[in-house]
Amino acid sequence: MPVDLEKIKSLCKRRGFIFPSSEVYGGLESTWDYGPLGVELKNNVKRAWWQAVVYERDDMEGVDAAILMNRWVWKYSGHEDTFSDPLVDCKECKRRFRNDHIEGNKCPGCGGELTEPRMFNLMFRTFMGPVQDDSALVYLRPETAQGIFVNFLNVQTTMRRKLPFGVAQIGKAFRNEITPGNFTFRTREFEQMEIEYFVRPGTDEDWFERWVADRFNWYVNLGIKPENLRKREQGKEELAHYAKRTIDIEYLFSIGWSEIEGIANRTDFDLRSHSKSNPQNEHSVADLAYFDEQTKEHVIPYVIEPSAGVDRTALAFLVDAYHEEQVRGEKRVVLKLHKDLAPIKVAILPLLRNRPEIVEMARKIKKDLQPAMRAVYDDTGSIGRLYRRQDEIGTPFCVTVDVQSLDDQQVTVRDRDTMEQIRISVDQLKAYLVEQLGGECK
Ligand code: GAP
Repeated sequence: MPVDLEKIKSLCKRRGFIFPSSEVYGGLESTWDYGPLGVELKNNVKRAWWQAVVYERDDMEGVDAAILMNRWVWKYSGHEDTFSDPLVDCKECKRRFRNDHIEGNKCPGCGGELTEPRMFNLMFRTFMGPVQDDSALVYLRPETAQGIFVNFLNVQTTMRRKLPFGVAQIGKAFRNEITPGNFTFRTREFEQMEIEYFVRPGTDEDWFERWVADRFNWYVNLGIKPENLRKREQGKEELAHYAKRTIDIEYLFSIGWSEIEGIANRTDFDLRSHSKSNPQNEHSVADLAYFDEQTKEHVIPYVIEPSAGVDRTALAFLVDAYHEEQVRGEKRVVLKLHKDLAPIKVAILPLLRNRPEIVEMARKIKKDLQPAMRAVYDDTGSIGRLYRRQDEIGTPFCVTVDVQSLDDQQVTVRDRDTMEQIRISVDQLKAYLVEQLGGECK
């Protein structure tokens, strides 16, 4: 059984991963702040993604586009007209639902009568400058993708790229969701990791399959159990307005199978829509086409888009890593996070905090290790309690300094998953940990 999201939420709050936002004012519905460990986890997820999709490939570049964009982007991308969900209200209890998320035509809360569905646009609106009229209207981007499309030529020409190639981006997106909830699974402000991969028309179906396989394997390589992941083909009626085909990667949460990433074949929809040669586009000043030097022809590339949510992905990693075990008659909670994702790689623990020589030695070890990996020092409890805390936040290694260490310059290294302990000389500690962690990880 997948662990209940409430359990993860409580661990996240207790251990400094994720807090309710604006808590001192009673919070803000479904809005969350990442704490000291949460920001590390999220950074590690983003780093692992960037490493896999940009650094370890030959055909990718990165960008970081603005959140605020010219309003015409959202007109011609189709979001102004179609980025909407059907909203219904209960006439009795006044609760609000997404019509496509409920079964039947009665209120799921009180059984009352519902209003007719009306379409509700999910884009957040704000104004640029001091005058708040229609000419100053701008949106908070609901996807990062458009920042890549409108920069297609900038990237292609400055980086002298030939098809196929892709552009990656990580950044915030905003959607005024009708029913946010399930902890960080559905929120109104979230982060996306998106790739727009530009290919020759006709090769798109092949590239689609390759990306689906690559992205599925990324999760498995980072420790997600394959039986908790599946690929699901979207039905024709579910497809976004731009998509010819979409496969979702879903994770088995306690709320059921739920999307953490979608891989879409967006065809040439976006580049074509944003081009001045599009007869419907009255505002664009450029044609977003690729010039083929060999054939001397302009081609509008097709686009394969793997689009993942940072928050949902981080949540899936947390849920999958969560284990409760019985150890010598006691419950042990341990996050078996992949070492690349663990917020802290090593904790240095003095066995006796009232022995200054031990404390000094432990602090020195931490200082020596910290340029190579995220290391912490902790002496705020008994050794058993300190181990339990590190297990619960997923720290792969604990290093204990004891009385004997002062004599023999050796320390104990404890492995989070096996709880096995080895003695190792301080001189060899760094090299050992770097090897176990698969390299330096800052
Ligand atoms: N550019 C394509 C696109 O945005 P999407 O399926 O709407 O596609 C991609 O979103 C990913 O963004 C989802 O798979 C999910 O991980 C994340 N996401 C979307 N809406 C979200 C929300 N309200 N809260 C958290 N994550 C969300």
